[in-house]
Amino acid sequence: NIEDNFQFILFGGTGDLAHNKIIPAFYNLAAKDILPDHYTIIATGRRYDNKNEYLNNLYSSIENKKEKIDNRTWQSLTDHIEYFQLSFKENNDFERLRKRLLQKSKEDKISNRIFYLATAPKFFAEIAKKLKEFNLLNAGFEHSDSRLVIEKPFGHDFESAKKLNNTLNDIFSEKNIFRIDHYLGKEMIQNIMVIRLSNPIFRALWNREHIDNIQIYLNESEGVKDRGKYYDDTGVIKDMFQNHILQVLSLIAMEEPANLSAQEISDKKVEVFKELADNDLSDIDKHIVRGQYDSNTVNGEKIKAYRQEKQINSESQTATFMALKLFLNNDRWRNVPIYLKSGKRLNKKEAAIAVEFKDNFHSSYLQNQKLDSNLLLIKIQPEEGVSLRFNTRKPASNNKIIPVKMEFCQSCQQFFNSPENYEGLIYDMIEGDKTLFTSWEEVSYSWKFIDKIQQKCEEENIELHNYPALSEGPEAADRLLEADGRKWLDKELS
Ligand code: BG6
Repeated sequence: NIEDNFQFILFGGTGDLAHNKIIPAFYNLAAKDILPDHYTIIATGRRYDNKNEYLNNLYSSIENKKEKIDNRTWQSLTDHIEYFQLSFKENNDFERLRKRLLQKSKEDKISNRIFYLATAPKFFAEIAKKLKEFNLLNAGFEHSDSRLVIEKPFGHDFESAKKLNNTLNDIFSEKNIFRIDHYLGKEMIQNIMVIRLSNPIFRALWNREHIDNIQIYLNESEGVKDRGKYYDDTGVIKDMFQNHILQVLSLIAMEEPANLSAQEISDKKVEVFKELADNDLSDIDKHIVRGQYDSNTVNGEKIKAYRQEKQINSESQTATFMALKLFLNNDRWRNVPIYLKSGKRLNKKEAAIAVEFKDNFHSSYLQNQKLDSNLLLIKIQPEEGVSLRFNTRKPASNNKIIPVKMEFCQSCQQFFNSPENYEGLIYDMIEGDKTLFTSWEEVSYSWKFIDKIQQKCEEENIELHNYPALSEGPEAADRLLEADGRKWLDKELS
């Protein structure tokens, strides 16, 4: 049911995002044969001056991601791609683009435009203003319902995000602004609510009576690669916490939505973000561990320290690792610690949510045996699936109790093919379904929370711990949980 006809205008069409995510996602949609007969992708960029050169480069990027490109699918996709050389500094280029959109709309009876800004965020406001100034939104339409799509980072703090949002709101209505958080495209993140709400065994226990603690870890083994300039201003707190990790948390912690509308779901998530912003951070040093990776030699290979990476200040104080303990002060979660962790150059790439249940009951039948807690592990990546730890009788023993695991591996299923699911997100933006996109309210409260942490860390001069590249991260992060008599479950389970 994808909208019948649309123009997809891609700014930054020659950049990484377009090559590695957006166009490959269109390829997958074309392969599934669910794109309409009439649509045009107008990829703008400065780099190439002709379509062939552009397509050759796209072909190579898709080829790198796939074993084999199906030539029929490629042909059907490229028939719909136009390359439009444009510099967004040149007014004249916008004028030319308007004419082209107008002409194409008439030819194809296009009724819907989607502007995707796959550019550096510092250009979002500038491009959006030009879209208005040169009437690219409405050209050819009586009534424009053009959409705008942008990716994070959305501002660099609450004030800058608000300023950007005001600019965008002058041009597009909130209903037509699609803010991508690519974690929301991931299969197991979309599965969180289903797992929580469709299983009485979890739904009934999803509260402070029964849950001891929640851990969310998004561990990465890569360093900053060639994004040093961006990353050194951003750090893990803005790169992973402000968006991905808090989005995951909101899905885990939110109240049950009354219906499935995007607005209702967002409202419920916003309640969580507001409560986060209310966290008392007066003893921040007991809640946070910051780290930065140092050099290391692993299997004979020398791995650079963060400060030796390209475009990084040699005295940088930017954290590449953060662990955070926080609470949500509501009836469902009061006093349940929530531990969040993310870092670059850790020993493996692994993202999961661990929900550990309480074992605060007494049963004389169990004869005081020490039990392992029940543990629900939602695995986001690289493996996708669910694992449930429970207790059972050790065979041929004298009723000795041992923990066992029940495993569901989603990524082992045949239908599985795209963990990032950009095609799902693109499909939704074409359909106009905002459920998997972040609202301004979500973004604004998450910034308020992050700003508060940043400010506290500066005031209290929170230590930056070094950790060897490709290690488990700073030991101080272990002590954060040990102080509560707990352990990071990613370590315990590995
Ligand atoms: C991006 C961050 O948003 O997410 C990167 O900017 C990070 O620094 C990436 O590496 C992680 O995404 P994924 O899908 O690989 O877990």
